[in-house]
Amino acid sequence: MSLLATTSIAKIADYADQTVTLSGWIHNKTEKGKLIFLMLRDGSGMIQCVVFKKNVSEACFSQAQQLTQESACRITGAVRADTRAPSGYELDVQEVEIISLTQDYPISPKEHGVEFLMEHRHLWVRSSKQHALLRIRAEVIAAAQEWLNAQGFIRFDTPILTATAAEGTTNLFGTDYFDLGRAYLAQTGQLYVESGMMSFGKVYCFGPTFRAEKSKTRRHLTEFWMIEPEVAFAEHADNLVLQEQFVSAIVQRVLERRSEDLRVLERDLEPLKRVVPPFPRLTYDEAIDLIREKHHEVEGCLPLAWGEDFGAAHETLIAQQFDRPVFIERFPSAIKAFYMQPDPDRPEVALCADLLASEGYGEIIGGSQRIHDPALLEARIREHGLSIEDYRWYLDLRRYGTVPHSGFGMGIERAVAWISGTRHIRETIPFPRQLYRLYP
Ligand code: 4AD
Ligand code: MG
Repeated sequence: MSLLATTSIAKIADYADQTVTLSGWIHNKTEKGKLIFLMLRDGSGMIQCVVFKKNVSEACFSQAQQLTQESACRITGAVRADTRAPSGYELDVQEVEIISLTQDYPISPKEHGVEFLMEHRHLWVRSSKQHALLRIRAEVIAAAQEWLNAQGFIRFDTPILTATAAEGTTNLFGTDYFDLGRAYLAQTGQLYVESGMMSFGKVYCFGPTFRAEKSKTRRHLTEFWMIEPEVAFAEHADNLVLQEQFVSAIVQRVLERRSEDLRVLERDLEPLKRVVPPFPRLTYDEAIDLIREKHHEVEGCLPLAWGEDFGAAHETLIAQQFDRPVFIERFPSAIKAFYMQPDPDRPEVALCADLLASEGYGEIIGGSQRIHDPALLEARIREHGLSIEDYRWYLDLRRYGTVPHSGFGMGIERAVAWISGTRHIRETIPFPRQLYRLYP
């Protein structure tokens, strides 16, 4: 006989007053004399299963008694509506079949330190909050891709092993690549997705990206997932409109479809409901003035000289002045990537923007218009101390049919941390990779 269930707990409402078999794991168990309450989870939801001694065989009652936290089993019973139950239904158990008994499950309902939980990440992902969080992650990824697909974007996959740097040379992970020298793990798919843009007009890439960041902040991972749309003929202002539509579509879909998970995480929904276009736009210069004026509002936030980059405290200060995400545009070119188009009216700043999430979750998007002039791009590559030979193919994109174009990258984990209201980015990915974490 197949071990598969009749249905999943998520669909249990369709089976009211019918007998079903559910396969899953015991979340917890309570015994009260002739009654055993089994909280069963199957990945799709949780349901209380009630074993009443007088309704089942002795063998069945004894099987139920043996079950421990995280034991796997199959339970057959009648679905009964119960307004007090979290799922609205309970199962009146008729049969219990043990599939595997678990002894000494390390994560108990009591509080554990985060280090302990991180060491047991492979098991921690079963816990209610982690489960809710990772479902939201899956929804964010699906929402992002489906929204872009519906807008006519084509997914264009870019390589992870690459020969060159795109976002600076100081945080590259390298490896020997046969007889061809060094290969680097991609920091971004952008340069390659620009080639797709010239073929399809509107494209995006989505995949893991890598930064050998020696920083231990709650916003940095060494391996993170990024979705990067790129649009031919789009200029800086078009890019910002696309971003605010994209982000609000994702947030609204999570609100719609993952309300139960947001509830488990105790997320305040009001700030999320306000995530609708237009988002405020602030220039870098205005942001510098704002920081000078209000830096005392946030601890550790110091005024900046023009040309300096923002730290986490500056981003928090700026974000808290607004009720929805805010763009900071036109940063000094000197602190941004080599490929960014200079502002024609003020060449010392770039036609770029960072999108800061509300409520102090920091930058979730970085994007820009790209240099489309081959001579200027070549000059910038040289200024950044990079080799023209390495970027020959990228320069070709400016040699053959070049057009103004723009794009951006949204870090999935940053977006999920913000939307789910999770302080630390390490919980927003199944297996975080950080300076001090490579296990499990
Ligand atoms: O601002 P970044 O570095 O931009 C790029 O990589 C561009 N090539 C994107 C593009 O225009 N196509 O990174 C973009 C986003 C950040 O806003 C942030 O959300 C995320 O990627 N990110 C990180 N997330 C987690 N850990 C890190 N170390 C991250 N670095 C960037
Ligand atoms: Mg950035």
